[in-house]
Amino acid sequence: MAHEIIRQLEERRARARAGGGKRRVDAQHARGKLTARERIELLLDPGTFEEWDMFVEHRSTDFGMDKTSVPGDGVVTGHGTINGRTVFVFSQDFTVFGGSLSETHAQKICKIMDQAMKVGAPVIGINDSGGARIQEGVSSLAGYAEVFSRNVLASGYVPQISLIMGPCAGGAVYSPAITDFVFMVRDTSYMFVTGPDVVKTVTHEEVTQEDLGGAVTHTTKSGVADIAFDNDVDLIEQTRRFMDFLPFSNREAPPLLATDDQPGRVEPSLDTIIPANPNEPYDVMGIVRKIVDEGEFFEIKPEFARNIVVGFGRMDGSTVGIVANQPLALAGCLDIDASVKAARFIRFCDCFNIPIVLLVDVPGFLPGTAQEYGGLIRHGAKLLYAFAEATVPKVTIITRKAYGGAYIVMGSKHLRGDVNYAWPSAEIAVMGSKGAVEIIFRSDLDDEEKIAKREMEYTEQFANPFRVGARGYIDDVIAPASTRWRVIRALRMLKNKQQDAPPKKHGNMPL
Ligand code: HXC
Repeated sequence: MAHEIIRQLEERRARARAGGGKRRVDAQHARGKLTARERIELLLDPGTFEEWDMFVEHRSTDFGMDKTSVPGDGVVTGHGTINGRTVFVFSQDFTVFGGSLSETHAQKICKIMDQAMKVGAPVIGINDSGGARIQEGVSSLAGYAEVFSRNVLASGYVPQISLIMGPCAGGAVYSPAITDFVFMVRDTSYMFVTGPDVVKTVTHEEVTQEDLGGAVTHTTKSGVADIAFDNDVDLIEQTRRFMDFLPFSNREAPPLLATDDQPGRVEPSLDTIIPANPNEPYDVMGIVRKIVDEGEFFEIKPEFARNIVVGFGRMDGSTVGIVANQPLALAGCLDIDASVKAARFIRFCDCFNIPIVLLVDVPGFLPGTAQEYGGLIRHGAKLLYAFAEATVPKVTIITRKAYGGAYIVMGSKHLRGDVNYAWPSAEIAVMGSKGAVEIIFRSDLDDEEKIAKREMEYTEQFANPFRVGARGYIDDVIAPASTRWRVIRALRMLKNKQQDAPPKKHGNMPL
């Protein structure tokens, strides 16, 4: 008898694991996609997945649904570990009703989200779904809304990561949009609010799914997604690597990873990385990789707003968030996209106790009607707001230009920066010498010789860090080669930093 019960259990489990059946699983594989369960197996440490609600079935009866039911109802949920640390995961099963979201499917997702909040563990959502379960109507919409409200409550409490590994359309895109990071797979995933057919009807534009909402579109044009990966395996492996950088809740400090990379490592190549000509660009990644542990850096949004680099590295074994102007793109100017990209990243770091290290080489905000009409004032203010609001340790290194408003916004002491250093090559001023002279000596503009002399005078006065050093706006001028050690010492000093805001419900960030 006992054996019979166990045999039945195994039979039921096998039925659930079979999902939508061999034909649909084969179709999934033929598209180069893994199944919901294969994805979980790859994502979690081997043998650690504890599945919940494997036997849950939908309750709808309309449109013949009472005759079709698949245990699990199109989503696999549960928990397991990534390199030994607990995460919760849901993985939509496209082979079961197209992974569409029913009332019960949503309840399964909500259940693991609630549990993740209780124990302080991240939620990783694998999205591969035809959207609302059409046969269920508004119950399905209510299910989405339940998920969304949990996304909002969990925001800033536990990290939430969305892996888009198939269709994700309609209002369904708003759950990933609220989560902290969105990773996509090239060619097999897409996200849009309204699909190509509706777009054609309404705006008469002809656009493919890929162009409208594929991984390339969202990681280069819209900034909706953070990184595009070539295939499922690549995405999942990099997600595992990514999770190692994160604290798993706002109650935790960033994880420590032992390293042989000496904190005091001197890097003489940094002494010559800044070109003699102040208008010549250089790759800021050359600095980033030299100062972090073992040169390891996980870049976020590498293809979007390339004029600013953001991402995670480790220093002294512990995670830091790096924000760096990139002179290779738009001379490192701040524009709308760069401001929003950096602001959101800084806010993530601040939520999760990750210190921020800024590398500043910024000639200013990008001029032009496109920027002004697009709301550069409002979007640039987001970066200012995010930096000033952040209470995590903030260390700024000015490597070259720090001009005007951009000087203030990029981690200045005036915005509650903690430790601010400048390299000897730093130029900190209201604007570049040429522009400045053209304004204050406008009457001399016809006299080239005089103007050149004035420009030199201005450069001599401002194109160095010592004038600012004399005011105490930077804490020291440091040798570039010693940057890693100086930043690590600053971070060690700031380890127990505490800073409060005046009592309020929340601020009113310029959204
Ligand atoms: C129920 C669905 C479904 C859905 C797909 N299926 N979407 N079942 N509800 N929303 C089922 C199909 O009937 C089919 O079942 C199987 O999943 C695979 O679908 P196919 O169409 O054969 O696959 P494919 O050609 O790859 O196309 C995938 C697709 C397409 C692009 C996702 O299925 C599609 O357009 N579906 C409808 C999308 C949609 O309009 N959803 C509602 C959006 S509104 P069988 O049994 O044949 O395998 C919405 C609002 C959310 O989501 C609001 C939140 C606030």
